[in-house]
Amino acid sequence: MFSIEVKNLRKEFGKFVAVNNISFNVKSGNIFGFLGANGAGKTTAIKMMSGILEPTLGDALVGGFSIANNPDKVKLNIGYMSQRFSLYNDLSVGENIDFFGGVYGLRGKEFIKRKEWVLDIANLKNQEKILTGSLPGGIKQRLALGTAVIHKPGILFLDEPTSGVDPLSRRSFWELIQNLSSEGVTVLVTTHYLEEAEYCDDIILLDAGEIIADGSANEMKKKYLKNDILEVECSDVIAGLEILEKQNYVEESSVFGNNIHISVNKNFKEQHQIKDLLETTHNIKVKRVHKIVPTLEDVFIHLLEKRKNAK
Ligand SMILES: Nc1ncnc2c1ncn2[C@@H]1O[C@H](COP(=O)(O)OP(=O)(O)O)[C@@H](O)[C@H]1O
Ligand SMILES: [Mg+2]
Repeated sequence: MFSIEVKNLRKEFGKFVAVNNISFNVKSGNIFGFLGANGAGKTTAIKMMSGILEPTLGDALVGGFSIANNPDKVKLNIGYMSQRFSLYNDLSVGENIDFFGGVYGLRGKEFIKRKEWVLDIANLKNQEKILTGSLPGGIKQRLALGTAVIHKPGILFLDEPTSGVDPLSRRSFWELIQNLSSEGVTVLVTTHYLEEAEYCDDIILLDAGEIIADGSANEMKKKYLKNDILEVECSDVIAGLEILEKQNYVEESSVFGNNIHISVNKNFKEQHQIKDLLETTHNIKVKRVHKIVPTLEDVFIHLLEKRKNAK
């Protein structure tokens, strides 16, 4: 069962193509990750799917409603949290919740119940009177999420919900998303933090308006990474990288934290090859070389590099 079915969705701004005929399906109750660098087209796509922005071409069925023919129905049946949150900074917490409750037509007992729920997940119980603008980023984000789902939509669009908050708040925000998903809500979430893909059931990677990879995390690792990935721990990462890049057995290389990751092809024989090269020839101390289980970030770096080189 799919909650979202996107067919050939396209958006042009003048001559510029921001979203280039993308198609994909989102399974009901899944967390679907929409990944890509700034400018990839994530916000444009999410606005079209939310019925806010008219597509140039193509269509999407969101909860059974066509975004092209029935955008108003779509809007009422989804939750949407925009990139800059949708809260009014000059209103109090309670006033913001009242406003969104009103937008979605909540009344009476049901509204009171939902208001309590929003205050609860935002960690703002009994703090209705606080000015929204004065809240810390992480709390504001949780409040924004709460107001976006105050009407209990079955489908939720989140545009970069974790950008600009500290890692701890980011993690607890993902827990909140996972809770909603386990209650059956379908969540489509964009992020430019590639490592957050690990939280998602299915993912697409967007680059310059095009889908360049899709699948679950494990599928992607199998499908797009044929080479082994080695992690090299050495005393001079920058110099080491420069040397390794030139070796015929190295396909790709990147700095990963304090280490180097390289993908090696069939010209690669043994791990002490690298130790010998760096230590004996270049006087760089090598602490460790070992094969690693690739992360999704490795996969994305590989795909984006490949595209860059092909251009
Ligand atoms: N209203 C607009 N008019 C012209 N260009 C736009 C408009 N909105 C977005 N763009 C361009 O479309 C591209 C994709 O933008 P966006 O969807 O915001 O990307 P992302 O959310 O992935 O960062 C960018 O190059 C952006 O400058
Ligand atoms: Mg964006």
